[in-house]
Amino acid sequence: MDTGGLSLDQAPPIDIPARFFLTAPLFAIAAGLLLAWEGPTLLVSRWMPGALAATHLIAIGYLGSIMCGALLQMLPVVAGAPVPGVRLVGTATHLLLTVGAAGLAWGLGGGGPTLIWIGAGASALGFLVFVVPVAIALMRARGAPGTLLALRTAALALAVTVALGLLLVAVLQGWLRVAHHTPWVDSHVAWGLMGWVGLLVVGVAIQVLPMFYVTPAYPAPMRRWFAPAVLVGIGAASTAWIMGDELVGRAVIGGVALGFVGFALVTLSSISRRERPRMDPTLLHWWAAMLSLCCAALAWVFAAPPTLVGVLLLVGLGVGLPAGMLFKILPFLTWFHLQHRQLSSGRFDLRIPHMGSLLSIRWARIQFGLHLAALMLLAGSLWVPVLARPAGIALALSSILLLVLLIGVARTYRRGAVLLRPAPSRVEPQS
Ligand code: HEM
Repeated sequence: MDTGGLSLDQAPPIDIPARFFLTAPLFAIAAGLLLAWEGPTLLVSRWMPGALAATHLIAIGYLGSIMCGALLQMLPVVAGAPVPGVRLVGTATHLLLTVGAAGLAWGLGGGGPTLIWIGAGASALGFLVFVVPVAIALMRARGAPGTLLALRTAALALAVTVALGLLLVAVLQGWLRVAHHTPWVDSHVAWGLMGWVGLLVVGVAIQVLPMFYVTPAYPAPMRRWFAPAVLVGIGAASTAWIMGDELVGRAVIGGVALGFVGFALVTLSSISRRERPRMDPTLLHWWAAMLSLCCAALAWVFAAPPTLVGVLLLVGLGVGLPAGMLFKILPFLTWFHLQHRQLSSGRFDLRIPHMGSLLSIRWARIQFGLHLAALMLLAGSLWVPVLARPAGIALALSSILLLVLLIGVARTYRRGAVLLRPAPSRVEPQS
């Protein structure tokens, strides 16, 4: 693996990112169970309470957690920019997002206004506690300009998404009135899915694909201009929507979607030209996620039901890609931290497990198969409603398997860390 340019010595303690990674699958399991429970009614329209609940279980509980955990880990290592007070920030963000995602989803799913504002408040506070120190770290960051630009713009997009989310809550609660509701929701979705999730995926891809798979670097103009162009595009589209110019908004957001299709095609072409030929489960997830992204853009252009676009983006890209990345990130962190402990304890008589042996590739492939089945059943259920419950079950099963695999890696770390505890210094008897 090409780890040149990384400041691995700056990595935060492993339990900080690990806690985000280990709780995130619980929210995808909950979304799957909710779909299995409610069945096809959940997918009747984008405004169904169950759909809004499942959306935020995935958007905040699953995706938000994994993205925040990964950023706290990535920033010091990739950009030499440790997040100030990382232990406190990690603990508070994790707690608030966990409570917030559960509360907001429950509230939007029919639990009532009190749960909505408690959940929204906790989520917003969780993201705030995260974004401020991360913004400080990003201002101090150096190196990897393409990645940094994408991460900076993604952090800004997250702040706008949360602000718009709070505004929607205020409207739902009757504290605020807006002339037209849908343009505000569309803007919230565009900032959340294209800005925050999309640009974070871009930043991670630029950094991680060449490192793990020795793929060619992304073209320089894409690294330099893509993220700012997306940000300007979303800003222009949401302004047009809110000003009542639906057509201009649609045209601009179409341009942004086309840009993401270009990014997906460049990614797939880089992956196929990689120097490490093995097709591991992480790469399968990259393929599926990039194809989902292209299909979502096509579905949108051909005015398919918005629920199809949502399913392709939230499940195809949003659930699949982070799962694939975790198959690489957690074993890498485990191996790296154990090696670090070995150096400081001097226990060179013990063997550190090889990174590739920490997670069963066979089971990871099965996890990918279940994920793919869930995605296809979900997309199919929009035309054949009886497929909705099996889709929910497949989503829950794939996420349970993801959780079990991650717990397995965490347990290996625990066992290794106990063995590699530094020996107590011996006190020499005084003569
Ligand atoms: C503090 C954080 C957030 C709050 C308070 C919040 C709040 C809301 C509310 C109240 C709605 C329902 C709108 C309505 O029916 O009137 C909504 C919809 C939605 N939100 Fe969020 N949200 C937050 C974060 C996010 C994030 C991070 C994402 C994506 C990454 C996201 C994606 C969506 C989507 C896809 C919808 C569904 C829109 C539709 O019906 O098509 N939200 N949000």
